[in-house]
Amino acid sequence: EKGGWDSFMNKEIHEQPQAVADTLLGRFNLDGDLNLDEVRIDEEVFRSIDKIIVIACGTAAYAGMVAKYAIEHWVRIPVEVELAHEFRYRDPILNSRTLVIAISQSGETMDTLMALRHAREQGSRVLAICNTQGSTIPRESDAVLYTHAGPEIAVASTKAFVAQIIAAYLIGLYLAQVKGAMYRDEIRDIVDDLRAMPAKIQRVLDTQAEAVESAAQAMVDAQSFLFLGRHVGYPVAMEGALKLKEIAYTFTEGFAAGELKHGPIALVDSGEPVVVIVPPARGRNVLHSKVLSAIEEVRARGAYTIAVAEEGDEDVREYADIVFWRPQCPTLMSPLVDVIPLQLLAMDMAKLKGLDIDKPRNLAKSVTVE
Ligand code: M6R
Repeated sequence: EKGGWDSFMNKEIHEQPQAVADTLLGRFNLDGDLNLDEVRIDEEVFRSIDKIIVIACGTAAYAGMVAKYAIEHWVRIPVEVELAHEFRYRDPILNSRTLVIAISQSGETMDTLMALRHAREQGSRVLAICNTQGSTIPRESDAVLYTHAGPEIAVASTKAFVAQIIAAYLIGLYLAQVKGAMYRDEIRDIVDDLRAMPAKIQRVLDTQAEAVESAAQAMVDAQSFLFLGRHVGYPVAMEGALKLKEIAYTFTEGFAAGELKHGPIALVDSGEPVVVIVPPARGRNVLHSKVLSAIEEVRARGAYTIAVAEEGDEDVREYADIVFWRPQCPTLMSPLVDVIPLQLLAMDMAKLKGLDIDKPRNLAKSVTVE
């Protein structure tokens, strides 16, 4: 069933262009407006929403963090992202105008299920983003928007992540549409950007595998890895770190690049691999130069620097030992491509170490205990 691939993870990584395209499919009217009738929450209810809380665990929570940047920017309502297992025990503030979005690939994660039950008891509406038809989380939610990534078998989540981002973006854009928070044309432009992503993901898969492999070879014996990013690059850094700890058993930490000087830079020593997600340079992005200076800082201390950067970003070359190139795209779309080389890196490292890529030790595909 691996269809010729050496692991499910490898197969699923390569299915990401399709997962994104399929999750976009059928969610628009003939005239191009978003249509989320399948969600079966009244437009009136959507209009009344003044806060969103995302509950999820692991990779699904990182997808939620990415979506927070986009939804707050588009809809101008606050979005909190909470690890489901922390949520219920801190007396969260919820009411009928709070939309709780529960993100789960499997739909069976007990922590997320318990959190959503709590939210519903408090009178909030729960909308699930889920990849598994008929699973418990969508059944217990008020509504569901399915991701169409297809079955994900490998324990390490890959294609579900990009599909979750798409689904959460669709919810954000739909809210912007019904609340009138954006012009129709603005929404359409973003939808066009989304539609362009499968080809860009494919391009990364087609062109970056070799660079990733050589980074994996160079760093396979490293004791630890650091990942840094800012803005949407921050959750992507954490997701890259999670992949590497999960399947290559390398000690990793992902953090916000701005935090470097507040402590983590003490970890950087000669030969320490540091992966840095560099935001697009275009549009006079102030964060670009800030992230470049973070690379410079760690490199000055002897780090082996791996950058994920936009094609054409010549400034990066002089700072990075190796670059994984991302096709040009708007910042909010960049997580969909930036995560790809990080998934490949984890997989290549696990392969070099002779580990079981699809079934890492101590982990199960869905965590059905609290
Ligand atoms: O099935 P879910 O999306 O609810 O699972 C949540 C996490 O357990 C899951 O993403 C986990 O972190 C993955 N193994 C990460 O690769």
